[in-house]
Amino acid sequence: MPLPSRQIPLPPGSRIGIIGGGQLGRMTAMAAARVGYRVSVLDPDGDSPAAQVADDCIAAAYEDRDAVRDLARRSDVVTYEFENVDPGAIEAATAMAPVRPSVEVLRITQDRIKEKGALTEAGFPVAPYRAVRNPDDLQRAIGEIGTPAVLKTARMGYDGKGQAIIDSGASAESAFDKLKRPGGLILERFVPFAMELSVICARNGEGRTRTFPCTENVHENGILDLSIAPARVPENSAREAARLASAIAEELGVIGLLAVEMFLTREGGLLVNELAPRPHNSGHYTMDASRTSQFEQLVRILCNLPLGDVSMQRNAAMANLLGDVWLEAGGNPDFARALSLNSVSLHLYGKSKVRTGRKMGHLTAMASDVETARSLVLEARRIARRAS
Ligand SMILES: Nc1ncnc2c1ncn2[C@@H]1O[C@H](COP(=O)(O)OP(=O)(O)OP(=O)(O)O)[C@@H](O)[C@H]1O
Ligand SMILES: [Mg+2]
Repeated sequence: MPLPSRQIPLPPGSRIGIIGGGQLGRMTAMAAARVGYRVSVLDPDGDSPAAQVADDCIAAAYEDRDAVRDLARRSDVVTYEFENVDPGAIEAATAMAPVRPSVEVLRITQDRIKEKGALTEAGFPVAPYRAVRNPDDLQRAIGEIGTPAVLKTARMGYDGKGQAIIDSGASAESAFDKLKRPGGLILERFVPFAMELSVICARNGEGRTRTFPCTENVHENGILDLSIAPARVPENSAREAARLASAIAEELGVIGLLAVEMFLTREGGLLVNELAPRPHNSGHYTMDASRTSQFEQLVRILCNLPLGDVSMQRNAAMANLLGDVWLEAGGNPDFARALSLNSVSLHLYGKSKVRTGRKMGHLTAMASDVETARSLVLEARRIARRAS
């Protein structure tokens, strides 16, 4: 397929519309401001993390088609910072401004059944799975896939929410009752992985791609806890992970970022777990450690500027700061002391309500080797918790 012709850069002062006002929107807006662009945010919360740093905000529901159209009307290009957006609203916006990634990419990545189907059809490796609509489907799927397996809602899942491990046919019934949704469920074989990896691929309107270095991810209770970059894997695994991510971005025709989460199996193979057509938590380290951050890369793509250099200046580790840190520190984490460690930087998202498991911010540490970066960032978080 011929590459699309050269795109005309949006002049400084042009406006990016972002659907969703969370931390990903916030950090995208900050990157946009640095390069001289304006940002409008659509989020029900008028004081959302992104609204706090954007030029203006439309306080409305994501499904409010008039509001989405209004955002597109005032913007030169529109993006979204999470997948649980109404594709009908995005379609309405597309008539007024280009939406990147496209609504077709959104439709696939917001539904695990469609996502796994698209990956399988194109020949990408995924764990065995079955779509589940009713208890009979589930029993059949367990018979075919075996246990342990993971039952997941097809839509709206994040941070491990909407999932249950199934050990036997008997545990299946209650899991089905707890998770059943109109959008259906999916049963996947449980992968006893050696490591979780992710690669963020940037693909621009001319069809060029660049992948950020492969990241090693550790989850706690289904929520990303720690990312280490570059991942401590053999060179050929990192190369294969990058190849997979670019090939998937190409296959789906993504214009924007595509984060590809993968499992490295004990045998050294790779299986794709899930896709996210947006900046990804595992790429936050790029703000401190890379020549171009994932957020600036997205802005460059949205505004038809050349892709930035994805190389790292130093090795890095990133630790999430969940609401738990505030609860453990009596509401007042000791960030001043955590920041007294050299090469540690703090990012807070401006969220006032603290909840267990809520992503409130993150810490990044940099060093010449990943082991040092990892110990430093964990030490900084321990200090913030006021633990001695
Ligand atoms: N089939 C599986 N085998 C083993 N572990 C799994 C499997 N599926 C999910 N997990 C574990 O649960 C975590 C969250 O799962 P997944 O990425 O599918 O859900 P999510 O809720 O969409 O997460 P997020 O959007 O935060 O990445 C994974 O990163 C992994 O640690
Ligand atoms: Mg995931």
